[in-house]
Amino acid sequence: MTSSFSFPTNIRFGAGCLQGLPQHLATLGVNKPLIVTDPGLLPTDAFKSLEKISGKGWAVFSGVHPNPTIEDVEAATAAYRAGKCDSVIAFGGGSALDVGKVIRLCLKRPDKPLLPFDFEADWSGLAPCITIPTTAGTGSEVGRSSVIIKEGRKRVVFHPSLLASLVILDPELTRGLPPKLTAATGADALVHCIESYTSPVFHPPCDWIALEGIHLIGQALARAVKKGDDLEARGKMQVAAMMGAVAFQKDLGAIHSLAHPLSTFCGLHHGTANALCTPFVMKFNAERLPGLYRRVGVALGLSQPDDATTIDHISGLLREIGLAPGLRAYGVKESQLDAMSKQAFEDTCHQTNPVKVTRNDLRSLYQLAL
Ligand SMILES: [Fe+2]
Repeated sequence: MTSSFSFPTNIRFGAGCLQGLPQHLATLGVNKPLIVTDPGLLPTDAFKSLEKISGKGWAVFSGVHPNPTIEDVEAATAAYRAGKCDSVIAFGGGSALDVGKVIRLCLKRPDKPLLPFDFEADWSGLAPCITIPTTAGTGSEVGRSSVIIKEGRKRVVFHPSLLASLVILDPELTRGLPPKLTAATGADALVHCIESYTSPVFHPPCDWIALEGIHLIGQALARAVKKGDDLEARGKMQVAAMMGAVAFQKDLGAIHSLAHPLSTFCGLHHGTANALCTPFVMKFNAERLPGLYRRVGVALGLSQPDDATTIDHISGLLREIGLAPGLRAYGVKESQLDAMSKQAFEDTCHQTNPVKVTRNDLRSLYQLAL
């Protein structure tokens, strides 16, 4: 068996680096981008910064929903055509970035429905896309996939051609992110690093990236939640979130399989859903593979850590940022667990969990997290 190791996109990082955007568009040979974002961003300082530097002819589509649907993708594609655009600026959280990346597929093949996705079709030569995250979590800015809801279910569109042409990581843009969202998105980044590091796929470069991402998150997440204008913490979180997404080209694990139905059934924020399941899945895994999390503990700066002290530390960090366990507090009902565990088992993420899980295991984990 051979492996393929590849590392993505050209990335610009630093406070204020958004200012270089017009130059980057010129370098890409485009001048009429469609900004794809969500309505919540329009009144924010982050969006105002973008507006200030936007040129004539830049169009805006701001209809992306928190868990984006195929209808969002169709509406954004129509806005691109109506605006006679030549490129995409995907600006916002993971949802806006996912929609911005994926509309280029619909533009390339208007004859084809996006879903079910035809991986084998010719997807070369897509419109240029610059991704600019305003949260530090999903890492969608460097991802090769978009998660889109069709008929009530999350579908993953994966293709290498979905990679952005350029990523802009400007910590100034996350300065105004409220503490709750900073916590939830940051927890998502942490889980990406933990699950990709412990996934059994052989990919040592990604393992190191994941461990360093955990190190940065351990230093910066609580600081960014408590003091939003701490630009050093914001910057570390942005880089760590990007690293988590680079690392999870190895794939994820059971935490993400449990989290996905919590969003589709109960509307939980993806990062919150991950955080509420994390300690229970870590305990489940460590009981069956002792020592699994020792190096996670080292990355977090613990001295002579073992699984238990590492899991305790992570539980404490999640509690410190307001993500104490208890799905009931978020409106999840015991009567939903059967249907959710069915969907969680159908989700492919758990196939790269370090320990095999059954549908019953997933049901039990939901019960523990309740
Ligand atoms: Fe995630």
